Amino acid sequence: MRAMPELVPPSSQYKHSFIEAVREAQASGSGLGDTLKWDVAEMEADFDRVLTELRRYEPGNELPDGFVHSEALWLVDGETYLGRASLRHTLNASLREFGGHIGYEMRPSARRQGHGKTILRLTLGRARELGLDRVMISCDTDNPGSRGVIEGNGGVLEGEFTLDYHPRAIRRYWIRL
Ligand SMILES: CC(C)(COP(=O)(O)OP(=O)(O)OC[C@H]1O[C@@H](n2cnc3c(N)ncnc32)[C@H](O)[C@@H]1OP(=O)(O)O)[C@@H](O)C(=O)NCCC(=O)NCCS
Repeated sequence: MRAMPELVPPSSQYKHSFIEAVREAQASGSGLGDTLKWDVAEMEADFDRVLTELRRYEPGNELPDGFVHSEALWLVDGETYLGRASLRHTLNASLREFGGHIGYEMRPSARRQGHGKTILRLTLGRARELGLDRVMISCDTDNPGSRGVIEGNGGVLEGEFTLDYHPRAIRRYWIRL
């Protein structure tokens, strides 16, 4: 019997499945910017480096200028990697405008099965554990999947905005924890 999807820190336990998911995203051209840019051969050769890279903004690490502390979280089902979220522990002016506290992506083969809503629900639980009392999440207005994920978790629309550095209109939502 398969386990229920759970949220875990990035780990070498899921190396094979994670790299397979990166291949899927790159083949379909759909995923977050860094996923599409990763060099799969380099990941195969040195997965510890990938894990270090994913954990570089965690508390305890020195932050580059303009960055805030954040953590990477993976949604897995048994040994299968399904998707990932990034949880920013605070906002700066730039994230307050666009980006927000939480970003996520599901691997292409795991989409449209409710996992996007699950990863956000579980990440909101983690945000609550960290003591956040409300989070902001933004998405492109023309991203129905992400809108569905946010609205399915009770997101309250602040408004729709256009930004001079981003090609599409965005929506900003807030969720009280
Ligand atoms: C956005 C994304 C995370 C959605 O993940 P998902 O696992 O497919 O989401 P869910 O299955 O939980 O779907 C949530 C809701 O959105 C709807 N939805 C999902 N994808 C959709 C699509 N392409 N078109 C229309 N509706 C869609 C679902 O039907 C569901 O609606 P419901 O609540 O009425 O049932 C996924 O498409 C993805 O990783 N996209 C690429 C990266 C990205 O855009 N990240 C977000 C950046 S803000």
